Amino acid sequence: MYRDNWCAQIDIDDVDKDINLCGWVYRGRDHGGVIFIDLRDVTGIAQLVFNPDTEEAAHKVARHLKTESVITVNGQVRKRPEGTENPELPTGMVEVHVKKIEVLSMSEPLPFQIDEAGEISDTLRFKYRYLDLRRPQMMANLIIRHKACKAIRGYLDEIGFIDVETPVLTKSTPEGARDYLVPSRVHVGSFYALPQSPQLFKQILMVAGLDRYYQIVRCFRDEDLRSDRQPEFTQVDIEMSFVDADDVINVVEGLLKWLFDEIKNEVIDTPFERIAYEESMARFGNDRPDMRFGLELRDMSDLVKDSTFKVFQDAVATGGIVKGLCGKGMAQYSRREIDVLTQEVQAMGAKGLAWIKVKDAFESPIVKFFQEQTLREMAVRLGAQPGDMMLFVADNASVVNDVLSRLRLDIGKKNGLIGAQNKFVWVVDFPLMEWVEDEGRFTALHHPFTSPTDHDIKAILDGSVISKEDCLRLKAKAYDIVLNGSEIGGGSIRIHKTDLQKKVLELIGIKAEEAVERFGFLLDALKYGAPPHGGLALGLDRLIMLMTGAQSLRDVIAFPKTQKATCPLTNAPSHVDKTQLRELNIKLNIEET
Ligand code: AMO
Ligand code: AMP
Repeated sequence: MYRDNWCAQIDIDDVDKDINLCGWVYRGRDHGGVIFIDLRDVTGIAQLVFNPDTEEAAHKVARHLKTESVITVNGQVRKRPEGTENPELPTGMVEVHVKKIEVLSMSEPLPFQIDEAGEISDTLRFKYRYLDLRRPQMMANLIIRHKACKAIRGYLDEIGFIDVETPVLTKSTPEGARDYLVPSRVHVGSFYALPQSPQLFKQILMVAGLDRYYQIVRCFRDEDLRSDRQPEFTQVDIEMSFVDADDVINVVEGLLKWLFDEIKNEVIDTPFERIAYEESMARFGNDRPDMRFGLELRDMSDLVKDSTFKVFQDAVATGGIVKGLCGKGMAQYSRREIDVLTQEVQAMGAKGLAWIKVKDAFESPIVKFFQEQTLREMAVRLGAQPGDMMLFVADNASVVNDVLSRLRLDIGKKNGLIGAQNKFVWVVDFPLMEWVEDEGRFTALHHPFTSPTDHDIKAILDGSVISKEDCLRLKAKAYDIVLNGSEIGGGSIRIHKTDLQKKVLELIGIKAEEAVERFGFLLDALKYGAPPHGGLALGLDRLIMLMTGAQSLRDVIAFPKTQKATCPLTNAPSHVDKTQLRELNIKLNIEET
C-alpha cells in the first residue's frame, strides 16, 4: 500500500500508530546524525525522522535523497520531544520515525528551489509549472478556486439555475477585444471565432425558455495583457428571464455573500453601495472605484480658470479640465520626491503635476498665480489641512481622470491608507455608447445588446435621438460589480425586441446588412417570442485573485499565459507543419524561419 494517511492530517491522536505516507521531499536537515525530512503532499507537511542507530537501512537511503524526489515511507507516529514542537504547522506536535522507505522517483537537480520560486521569472516558473505549482501557496490557490466553483454551482443550482454548455468554435461576439480565429478545413477561407463570452448563446437560451442559465465558462480575448487580464479566462456567466436590473443584482449579491461566507468565513454586508458612472468618474476618475479609502478627486476648473497660471487657464479654455486631490501628510515631500512623483504622472500620460503645499502658508512656485482666497477655497474643496499637499493635473478630461485615478491609488498604497475591509460597489447608470475619437464612430460601452433605459427606449423609437449629443446622453440598463477597485463583473438588461435592437445597432454605426451578417441569428430569435431578460458575468479569475490575496491572475490559473500570450510549458503558440497549412488552404505571408 502506498499510503493510509495524508501528511497534514496526522496529529497527536495518532501517536504510536504505524502509518504509511507518500509525497515529495520538501526540505531536509542532515547534521551527520539523525536526518529530518519535511515530506509534502497535497494536504501539507509531515516531519520524518531517520535515526541511524535504530533504522540504519532507511537512514542510508535518506542520506542520498535529492530534494523533490517522490518517496513512500512506513513509520511510527511519535510526539515531538519537548521544545521541538512547531505550532505553525498543523502536524507540528508530532513526527514520523521512519522504519522503511522506498524511493518511487528520484528528482534531478531543480531549475529553481520550490520555496524560492517567488523571485524567479514568470517564463521559468511557467516552463516548469509542475514545480511552481508544488509551492504550498499555489496549491492552496487552486484548491480555493475549486471550492469556490463548487460553492457557486451549489448556490446557483439551489435557486433554479441550469448549467448549459455553449460552443467554443463559434462566431464573433462583440465584447470589444480582438477575436482568436480558427480556420475551417472544410469551408475554405472561413473561420470560427473563439467566444469572447457566450453572450448571444445565453440570450438565445432565454428565448428558448430556459429561464435561468449559468455556466462556468472559458472566454477568449486577444487583447493587451496585464496582471488582471489573460487571453483566456473564466467567467461565471449568468442569464435570467423576466427580470429587471435589481433582480440580477440581488442574485449576484446573494451569490457573493454566500461565497465569501463559505470560502473565507467572512460576513459581507448586502445590499452593496451603488454609485452612478458619472459620479464615479467625478470622484475617483474611473468606473472601478476603490472605496477602501478617501483621497477623492475634485474638479477645480471653475476655481482656477481665471487665475494667471497659464497651464490651468489654457487647459480650461481649450475644453479641458483641472482636477486635484489631497496628498495627505505630503507637505514634507522634498523637491526631489516631488520630481519623482512628477515623472511618474508624466509616464502615465500627464504633461506635468502642479502642487501646492499647505503649511502655515501655501507653498509652491505657482502660488503667485492665485489669489489667497482662491487658494483657501481650493484647500477647502480638497479637504486639505496643514501638513498636506494639493496635487493638480490639467488636460482633457480623459487624461486628467486616468492619471489622477492612478495617482490616487499609488498614494493610497504608498501611504498605507487602504483599509483591510473588502469593499463591494455597484457602478450603475452607464452611458449606452461612447464616441471613439480615433475611429470617428460610436461603440457600445457594454455591448450592443444592452437595453437603454425605458425613457431612452421611447426616445429612440420616436426617432428623436439624432445628434451626437443625443446619443451621448443615452443611458443603459447596465451594471458593473467592483471589489476593491477591480471590476469583477459586468452585465445588463438586454434588448428583447427586434425593432429596438436594429435601431440601437444603427445608432452605433452597424449597418443593417452588417447586423444581419454578424448577429442575424439573434435578430431572428428575437422575432419569435423573446422574454425580457438580463444577466451578468463575473470574472472568476479576478474574484479568486482577490479572495486569495494573489497579486496576479497567473497565481490562480493552473496554466496561465505570459504577458506576450505564450505558454512556455508547451511552447504555444507554435509553427505548424506545411501539410496542415495546405489542408487548411493557408499560405503564410512571411519568410520561412
Ligand atoms: P465583460 O466583458 O464585462 O462582460 O466581462 C465580464 C467580466 O469578466 C472579467 N474579464 C476578464 N478577466 C480576465 N482576463 C480578461 N481578459 C478579462 N476580460 C473580462 C472581468 C469582467 O467584469 N457578456 C458580458 C456579460 C454580460 O453582459 O452578461 C461580458 O462578457 O471581471
Ligand atoms: P511649467 O510652466 O511647464 O514650468 O510648469 C509649471 C508647473 O506646472 C510644473 O510643476 C509642472 O509640472 C506643472 N505642470 C505643467 N503642465 C501641467 C499640467 N498639464 N497639469 C498639471 N501641472 C502641470
